[in-house]
Amino acid sequence: MVDQFDGRADMAIRHERLARSLDHPPSIADRSYRPVGTIVLAFSLVIHRHTGAVNVNVGILGTGTLAKALARAWSTTGHNVCITGRDMVKAGFIAREIGGAVEAVAPADFAAQVDVVVVAIAWEGLAEALGLIGAPVGSLSGIPVIDCTNAVDYATGELKPESGSAAELVASIAPNAHVVKALHLFAGTSWPYKGPPLSAPVVAVCGDEPSALQCASTLITDLGAKPAKVGGLNSARQLEEAAGFVMRVVMAGFNPRFAVPDVNPTAHSPEPAAR
Ligand SMILES: NC(=O)c1ccc[n+]([C@@H]2O[C@H](COP(=O)([O-])OP(=O)(O)OC[C@H]3O[C@@H](n4cnc5c(N)ncnc54)[C@H](OP(=O)(O)O)[C@@H]3O)[C@@H](O)[C@H]2O)c1
Repeated sequence: MVDQFDGRADMAIRHERLARSLDHPPSIADRSYRPVGTIVLAFSLVIHRHTGAVNVNVGILGTGTLAKALARAWSTTGHNVCITGRDMVKAGFIAREIGGAVEAVAPADFAAQVDVVVVAIAWEGLAEALGLIGAPVGSLSGIPVIDCTNAVDYATGELKPESGSAAELVASIAPNAHVVKALHLFAGTSWPYKGPPLSAPVVAVCGDEPSALQCASTLITDLGAKPAKVGGLNSARQLEEAAGFVMRVVMAGFNPRFAVPDVNPTAHSPEPAAR
């Protein structure tokens, strides 16, 4: 089992460099820019010379509704997408249906091929799905992991775990993974958002590792949304509770969009968080 995930040293180098590239994309004028180092990196990280944008190898764990919607959305924004899950027939079907830059990858090969992992798994299968890709033996070490899990009882709007959060469970299963919580509130069909920029959805994201927050923010921006960094990973339960709150407002017969106050952040903070 461990042998399947021996590319970890290479991956750590790749992800450190990916984070640096996202923080400081090469300037358009810097024609001599090369992703120096391993050949693996040269293939995995493609810099658009004209736009400075970074193409990322997005790995999606899951083959359900959200996985398919995100695979489609990110593939249309120039990223490569690897999709995996316990059912490789489903993964292959999604890859063929979307086509282009979406590829089905066997669970054992998955972690070595991706720059960031997006977890789109039902709460009940979370630990088992992470096991499939070697997370417990360190395959995701140093990699940004975006957890989209809703551990909510849909009948009541209550969180299923009595304490902690799904995102913290992911972090506890995957040693040294750079876990962030994001993209659990909006339906996958919301992406990519193509409406007026002023009305773009705000996606709250939390996590402890700045480079992973930056990576998630970049991918969220590519979906047409605005990332709002709201705290460390210990804020994840609050973000997950928000999903239950949304469900309860819907069950009460109202649109949750009108269930939070309309607040101008500039009136409340002299230096609003970067958006
Ligand atoms: N759908 C959305 O728009 C949306 C939006 C935000 C967040 N979410 C959250 O994202 C997650 C996925 O939602 P979804 O709508 O895509 O659900 P879904 O269509 O039911 O897909 C669930 C995925 O989890 C996998 N899975 C379940 N149990 C497993 C196990 N024991 N081992 C391995 N894999 C397992 C399923 O595999 P099989 O296909 O083989 O059964 C499938 O790939 C959920 O936590 C959900 O709350 C969904």
